[in-house]
Amino acid sequence: MSEIFDVAVIGAGPGGYVAAIRCAQLGLKTVCIDEWKNAKGRPSLGGTCLNVGCIPSKALLESSENYYRAVHKFSAHGIKSEGTSIDVPVMIARKDKIVTTFTAGISSLFKKNKVTSVHGRGNSLVQEPKDNSWTIGVQDNDKTESVRAKHVILATGSTPRQLSFAPVDNDLILDNAGALALTEIPERLGVIGAGVIGLEMGSVWRRLGSEVTILEAMPGFLMAADEQVAKEAKKVFSKEPGLKIQTGIEIKSIETTKGGVTIKYSDTTGEEQSLEVDKLIVAVGRVPNTTGLGVDQNGLKLDERGFIEVDAVCCTNLPNVYAVGDVVRGPMLAHKASEEGVAVAEMIMAREQGNAHESEGVDFNTVPWVIYTAPEIAWVGKNEQQLKQEGVEYKVGQFPFIANGRARAIGEASGFVKVLADAHSDRVLGIHMIGPYVSELISEAVMAMEFSACSQDIASIIHAHPSLSEVLHEAALGVDNRALHI
Ligand code: FAD
Ligand code: NAI
Repeated sequence: MSEIFDVAVIGAGPGGYVAAIRCAQLGLKTVCIDEWKNAKGRPSLGGTCLNVGCIPSKALLESSENYYRAVHKFSAHGIKSEGTSIDVPVMIARKDKIVTTFTAGISSLFKKNKVTSVHGRGNSLVQEPKDNSWTIGVQDNDKTESVRAKHVILATGSTPRQLSFAPVDNDLILDNAGALALTEIPERLGVIGAGVIGLEMGSVWRRLGSEVTILEAMPGFLMAADEQVAKEAKKVFSKEPGLKIQTGIEIKSIETTKGGVTIKYSDTTGEEQSLEVDKLIVAVGRVPNTTGLGVDQNGLKLDERGFIEVDAVCCTNLPNVYAVGDVVRGPMLAHKASEEGVAVAEMIMAREQGNAHESEGVDFNTVPWVIYTAPEIAWVGKNEQQLKQEGVEYKVGQFPFIANGRARAIGEASGFVKVLADAHSDRVLGIHMIGPYVSELISEAVMAMEFSACSQDIASIIHAHPSLSEVLHEAALGVDNRALHI
C-alpha cells in the first residue's frame, strides 16, 4: 500500500476494532490489520471476544440455562415439560449464527466509518528513519504487503495458556474454542482451572447433563472475588448435582485413550487420585500475543510476564506506538480493552492537533467484573480482604435476594448484594453481588463509583418496585443500619 495512514491498528478484537472506529470517527485515516479466520477459513473480525469468547459463551450459557429451567424448574410454575430434550447441533448453530452476525457487523461498521480492513498477520514493525512513520509487514498466506502509518496501536490480544502435559487437540483435550464447539454432550467432563472460563464452560455442559469435575490448583476458590461472595458461590455450586469442584490439587499426568482422558492428580491430603473423563477442558489463564511484532528488531519492551509494557495511558517505549487490551497489564476483559482503545484514539487525535490534552487512562478500580454462572457473580471496586490489607476502615451493608419480591417471583433467590463504604466519608469503595441478573445490576454500582457516590446517595435514590435493583438499594440503606425489609 503506497498511502500513509494516520493510524494502523493491529488486531480487530474489542480493543482494536473499537480503537479503529473511534480513530476514524475523529477523522484519522485508519487501517486495521487482523489475521483471525473462522472455522470455514474465512476472515472474521472481532477477535477472541466475538469469535470464541464473550459472545458465543453467553449464547451457550443462555441456551443451557433455558434447557435447565425447562427440565428442573418449570414444574414449580405448574408448567409440564416432560420429554424436554436438547438438540445440541441446533444450539451450536444458533450460537454460530449470533457470532457471524456480529463479526459481519464489524465489517459493516468499518465500511460505514471508512476504516480500511486488511486481512493478514502483522509480522514486522519497523520505523522509517526518513519520517519516523512505521511500516508493518502483513502476511496473508503467500501474499505479503506493507502498511505504513504515523501511529500504531497494538491490540493483538491473548491466547490460551497451554500445559505441556495436556496438549490441546480440540478433540479430547479442549481449549475455549473447542469447549464452545462440542456437538455432543460429554457424559463426563473434566475441567482444569476453576477460573472464569472453567466455571462458565463447566456450567454450560453441566446444565445440559454432563457430570463435571473442576480441578483447581489454588487452595482457595475464586480468589479474585470478595471472600464472602466466593464462599457463597462455592456453597451454591456444591449443591448442584453433577458438579464437583476440587481445589488445592496438583496434576501428575494426563493420558488420552481412544475414548477419553485419564487425569492423575494429588489432592490436599497428598493422596493420588485418578479421574476418567470423555472430554477435558484446559482453562488455566491466557498469555499475551506478541509474536510477529518484531520485538527483537525494534526493541519493543515487554514486561517480566511477556505483556507489552505500557504506561498508565497505554504508550509503549516506542514513539507513537501504543498497546491496549489483553496484550497489556490489567484485567483481561473486553470492556477494559475497548475503553483503552477509545482513550488511545482520542489521545492520538489530540497529539495530531498539537493539543496538550492527554488521556488519564482507564481506572481499573471502576472496571466491572462479571462471571455468568447461575447465580451470576459481579463486582466493582475493592473487596473486604483488600480493604483490610490496606488498613482502610469501612462499613458494610448487605441484603439477600431471598427478601426481595422480584427475586422470589422469578424463582431465583440465592445470593446477596454487599456495599462497602468508607467508615468516615461514606464514599462507596466496592460493591459485590451474587444472585440473579447481577450482570445487569452491577452497572448502577459502577455508575455510583464513577460519580464518587456515598452509600447514602444510593440509599436516597428511588428504585422501582418490585425489582432486583431494590436489593442494592437495601444494601446501601444497610450501611447505616436502615435496611427496611430484613
Ligand atoms: P482479542 O479479542 O484477543 O483480539 C486480538 C485480535 O488480534 C485477534 O483477532 C487476533 O487474531 C489478532 N492478532 C493477534 N496477533 C496478530 C498479528 N500479529 N497480526 C494480525 N492480527 C493479529 N471478557 C469480557 O469482558 N466479558 C466476557 O463475558 C468474556 N467472556 C470470555 C469468554 C471466553 C471463553 C474467553 C476466552 C474470553 C472472554 N472474555 C470476556 C475476555 C475477552 O474475550 C478479552 O478480554 C478480549 O477479547 C480482549 O480483547 P483484545 O482486543 O485485547 O484481544
Ligand atoms: P483465570 O485466570 O480466570 O483462571 C485460571 C485458573 O486456572 C486459576 O484459578 C488458576 O489457579 C488455575 N490453574 C492454573 N494452572 C493450573 C494447573 N496446572 N492446574 C489446575 N489449575 C490451574 O483464566 P481463564 O479461566 O483461562 O480465563 C482467562 C481470562 O479470560 C479471565 O481471567 C478473564 O479475564 C477472561 N474471561 C472473562 C470472562 C467474563 O468476563 N465473564 C469469561 C471468560 C474469560
